[in-house]
Amino acid sequence: MAEAGSFAEKVKQQADIVRVVGEYVRLKKSGQNFTGLCPFHAEKSPSFAVHPTKQIYHCFGCGVGGDVFKFVMEMEKCAFPEAIRVVAEKCGISIPRPKDRSPEERKENQQRSVLVEMHREAQSFFVKQLEGTLEGKAARAYLEDRGLDKDTITRFGIGYAPSGGDLLLRHLKSKYSEKLLVDSGLVSRDQGGRLFDRFRRRITFPISNESGKIVAFGCRALGDDQPKYLNSPETPIYSKSNLLYHMDRAKEGIRRQDFAILVEGYMDAIAVARAGISNVVASCGTSLAEPQIKLLGRFTRRVIVNYDPDAAGQTATERSLVLLLEQDFEVRVLALPPVGNKKADPDLFIREMGKDAYLKLLKEAPPYVDYLIARARQMDLTTGEGKQRALNFLLPYIQKIPNGILRSEWATRIAQQLRIEEPLLRSALSKAAKERRSEIKTAPELIGRAAKPVERRLIRMLAEAEGFRHELAQQLQNARLYHGLETEKIFAALVIASLAGQPLQATEVAAVLDERDRRLLFEILFEEANEPTWEEAQSCIEALQNRQAEHELAEVQRSIEANPPAPEMRGLLEKKQDLMRRLAAAR
Ligand code: UTP
Ligand code: MN
Repeated sequence: MAEAGSFAEKVKQQADIVRVVGEYVRLKKSGQNFTGLCPFHAEKSPSFAVHPTKQIYHCFGCGVGGDVFKFVMEMEKCAFPEAIRVVAEKCGISIPRPKDRSPEERKENQQRSVLVEMHREAQSFFVKQLEGTLEGKAARAYLEDRGLDKDTITRFGIGYAPSGGDLLLRHLKSKYSEKLLVDSGLVSRDQGGRLFDRFRRRITFPISNESGKIVAFGCRALGDDQPKYLNSPETPIYSKSNLLYHMDRAKEGIRRQDFAILVEGYMDAIAVARAGISNVVASCGTSLAEPQIKLLGRFTRRVIVNYDPDAAGQTATERSLVLLLEQDFEVRVLALPPVGNKKADPDLFIREMGKDAYLKLLKEAPPYVDYLIARARQMDLTTGEGKQRALNFLLPYIQKIPNGILRSEWATRIAQQLRIEEPLLRSALSKAAKERRSEIKTAPELIGRAAKPVERRLIRMLAEAEGFRHELAQQLQNARLYHGLETEKIFAALVIASLAGQPLQATEVAAVLDERDRRLLFEILFEEANEPTWEEAQSCIEALQNRQAEHELAEVQRSIEANPPAPEMRGLLEKKQDLMRRLAAAR
């Protein structure tokens, strides 16, 4: 996030979160904070709060929270750099020209733009190879055979990497250092240290990032060479799990139609896009990663998953389903029927059956639950055990249906389709629903109870008692007083920050916490509280010491009850005496 000395940090320091949030939410002063109706969930009474001095927001209802950038990213559905720009503009902070950036930042940016430039050159090299060489002719024949005409080849920038082994290298090496060439992933180094082309005798598909810059290639073998597809490695400009193929051209369509079609492969995305359906992206490989879902989530919350109908595709569909549902996507699944006796991926299906047939199936794509029922019905349902297995397969997904009526409707459907007696199913479902509720109950009230008042108070002091937080942190750390507490991670993060001697940056501390702890921390920071004093701190410390002693005592008692040999027993009894004395003195 906002790294020290970066422009982001500067903006954060100068921006006023109340003003920025105030442009989206009607805020009213209430005590030290400002409150309003949460823009992230529907509510009638305000549970959304903004803290002017800590520069954070938090919703006590739905639990969202963060700093000014997070707020803008969520509101505008944009990425971090864009959020910085938006905040800077709203607060009248001028955006630096490249030369104002820190030296490292400048160097990295420069390296990135050189790598992008190199990819552009590689791209035109591959295209020329396809168009104008003998080898390219064979590759063109292959593409034609697969139904790709000249227009499509041009439109998707398809090219050819020749078999020579160092033709691209020779083309690039006068301009770029060896290190850069290797960093780009276009060139590899063998054990003897010699450089050679990574892609040889392959069709090349340029992979662009969201803004349309080529950052990698996915390259298909012409024949049966393995691997079928060889892709660029992770580089400073390319991270596989952060990118979706065809996103640059799909995003407008996705926004407009408010849904996306998710396919597995390059050829699938191309086939679907060619059919005039532009809102298609490919995850490139079978498993969808969380950053990819977040990327998609900036444009829509509705997806039709259309993976290959083979075993790998099914597994991937189900794994992606879980991830998508967790991120609140509305998911439909298109499982294409076989063409003749061949399992058909979108590419093959469209080629054989035509785009209208595909469009029709797309329109009819059922909600994910129907897909899952169909899958369950493929299992052996003749025995009780088989039915149980099918039910176990379905339950976790059904649990994720937030709407009770819908959930109940599905239960009836499932009972009918799997021929399971409805009462049996209902009891399994309500058990699952209870678990679901307890999951959801990690929300406010329950979190609130997770931290005792003493812990809350100490956390607050570590966050803001400028006069003594360093000393307090030292004390807590030396006596290991927060170990084993439910709030241990929060304490650990605050102790580290306090010992570092910097003023508290709530979101920086929160960055190392998981979501649950982050919520709890923010909740505590928003509580109305008196000025902390050293005396109060000491009495909180004592309370923790006592609690620790009580735990120890309980443990010693357990060991005594196990009736160990005499010498050990003696030691335990002494320890017990000692602890009891200490506790008595404290009372
Ligand atoms: P598929 O094996 O389904 O390939 O893998 P495909 O897209 O249908 O390709 P054709 O039609 O046989 O040419 C789906 C996707 O998984 C990734 C690629 O992104 C591919 O498009 N993949 C597959 C790899 O990265 N490496 C591989 O070896 C295979
Ligand atoms: Mn395929």
